[in-house]
Amino acid sequence: MKRFEGKVAVVTGGGGGIGSAISRRLADEGALVVVSDVNGEAAGAVAAEIVSQGGSAIAVAADISQREPCFGLIAEVFDQKGRIDILVNNAGINRRGNLLALTDDDWHTSFAVNLDSMFYLCRAAIPHMIEAGGGVIVNTASQWGLYPAPNHIAYNTTKAAVAAFTQNLARDYAPHKIRVNAVCPGEIHTPMLEAGVKRAGRTIADLGKLVPFGRIGRPEEVAALVAFLASDEAAFMCGSLVEITGAQAVA
Ligand SMILES: NC(=O)c1ccc[n+]([C@@H]2O[C@H](COP(=O)([O-])OP(=O)(O)OC[C@H]3O[C@@H](n4cnc5c(N)ncnc54)[C@H](O)[C@@H]3O)[C@@H](O)[C@H]2O)c1
Repeated sequence: MKRFEGKVAVVTGGGGGIGSAISRRLADEGALVVVSDVNGEAAGAVAAEIVSQGGSAIAVAADISQREPCFGLIAEVFDQKGRIDILVNNAGINRRGNLLALTDDDWHTSFAVNLDSMFYLCRAAIPHMIEAGGGVIVNTASQWGLYPAPNHIAYNTTKAAVAAFTQNLARDYAPHKIRVNAVCPGEIHTPMLEAGVKRAGRTIADLGKLVPFGRIGRPEEVAALVAFLASDEAAFMCGSLVEITGAQAVA
């Protein structure tokens, strides 16, 4: 039995490492997936791959750091598909640096992409969910939002805010049967992580040695958790921040 048969899911950052895995997983389980990304080509490739494997997906290019594209994305999905059951706010950027090293633009852009996007997308989607009698939102926060790693003050602060945003939204909309939860991944092997590892002059193997489980995580493992949280099996989970880290403590 497919858990998401008949459901429409929107995944932001769907062209990236974790977002593409989430898109594939939700589609494998029967959802019609709207793969959205500022990188339209990447989103298109993921949607095409899903369709070629017999799943249902469309790609929508959108820069969700801006208010209008967020409202435009949700309006387009609702106009075309008539419903939005699952919203996965996954797009994110990681601008490295401490307070003095960062530029003003690093700070503001980090908030625009990582947090403001969720504010606008949820404001656009929640009225449809209320009208439908419920819905599911899964936000991608980070372990670093709970326990900050050094030299990432903008990223970590946005992710701490995502955690707080998730809990607030959950409390306010639980009476409408809208479940809001967040995943807090540790080190996951994606293009974002590869860029960071390269900048730091380390390797993926070095990083794996720091994880008690002996390796870093895979995007598919985060996708499995997101699928669980989006499914009816997590029916009483609302306002949770779920860590997926291989038992790694932030160093
Ligand atoms: N990889 C990790 O170790 C890790 C750990 C914790 C949390 N995360 C979080 O997981 C999420 C996905 O990260 P990833 O590792 O897959 O990185 P990624 O770089 O592979 O994917 C991020 C995607 O977001 C898209 N994006 C960036 N700015 C955008 C914008 N303005 N509008 C729309 N899309 C935009 C990118 O084009 C990209 O496809 C992020 O929120 C990230 O912070 C990642």
